[in-house]
Amino acid sequence: MVEFATANHRDGPASFADWVANERELHQRYARLLGAASADEISVVPNTTEGVGIVAAGLDWRAGDNLVTAVGEFPTNQLAWAALADRGVTLRAVDLRFAADPEAALLEAMDERTRLLTVSSVQWTDGFRLDLGRLGPACRAAGVLFFVDAIQQLGALRVDVERDAVDCLAAGSHKWQMGPEGLGVFYCRAQWRDRIRPLKLGWRMLEQAFAFDRPERAVAGTGQRFEPGSPNTLGQMALNAALALQERYGTAWIEQRVLANTAALISGIDALPALELASRRTPERRSGIVSLRPLNTSPRTLARRLAERNIVAVARGELLRLSPHFYQGEADMQGVLEGLENFSN
Ligand SMILES: Cc1ncc(COP(=O)(O)O)c(C=O)c1O
Repeated sequence: MVEFATANHRDGPASFADWVANERELHQRYARLLGAASADEISVVPNTTEGVGIVAAGLDWRAGDNLVTAVGEFPTNQLAWAALADRGVTLRAVDLRFAADPEAALLEAMDERTRLLTVSSVQWTDGFRLDLGRLGPACRAAGVLFFVDAIQQLGALRVDVERDAVDCLAAGSHKWQMGPEGLGVFYCRAQWRDRIRPLKLGWRMLEQAFAFDRPERAVAGTGQRFEPGSPNTLGQMALNAALALQERYGTAWIEQRVLANTAALISGIDALPALELASRRTPERRSGIVSLRPLNTSPRTLARRLAERNIVAVARGELLRLSPHFYQGEADMQGVLEGLENFSN
């Protein structure tokens, strides 16, 4: 970002061709990261909210339709869907906390009027991970659009939209992808593209965006149609570099490191009587997020004390959330556990 800002300050748009090349490369990197069939299915958008909004606003809803989701989703994955009530569409939220089989509970909530299933693949509160491979194919068989908010997974654990039959996905880049705030990805499977009407209209969605003197106004046949205005080039430079860094290490290795950190934290927390693990222990349900409930102090106080040791943890309600990434390892987890032990009594 510093390099780009310095050159931009000095030279203005002199290297515009490089900006365009960077943007193209970013789309290709996202296609690889998501396991998408083509970079044409990628749109680079400001955030997760934008991706949710594109689908919620653009589908041809009919009164009496419904959509299914989980209780406790982050507000971004609730508000735009709930607002469809104005168009006679009902939001059915399934409580997964007590469900013996959460994927089955979501699928059972669907009926012949269900148009869409939307979930976070990893829950923001406790890191609970859903098995997308059980949801996607069932949605496809029922003709239901399968939407995933992947912000808490993409960049930490592998995502494969082809394998899991995900139809649309959105993920801001500033969490596990380590990108800048205000930029992220919207994936839309080619088969759904023409069924989602873009409602934000602008010059850059046109097939011939730069042919200002031509009369044609054909909308791009790719994900470019969901990118209506000038891009955030500064952010795109940083995001492309962040994804390049991830590609260098490889998603399999990153996932392994993230899950090793989670395993170390879970067994360490289990050994501390003043703390109660709030995340699931089952390996398939784990992610990069580990949440715990301090029994003798408040999460806020605990977070403050940990900060004195340069350990960043977030207090959310009754829980303290830890989310170490792949560049941290065994020694760091040991340090966190020592901090937790010292400050939780
Ligand atoms: C599950 C989930 N979705 C979405 C967001 C953020 O949405 P946006 O990228 O629109 O800011 C967050 C957290 O900030 C989140 O945890």
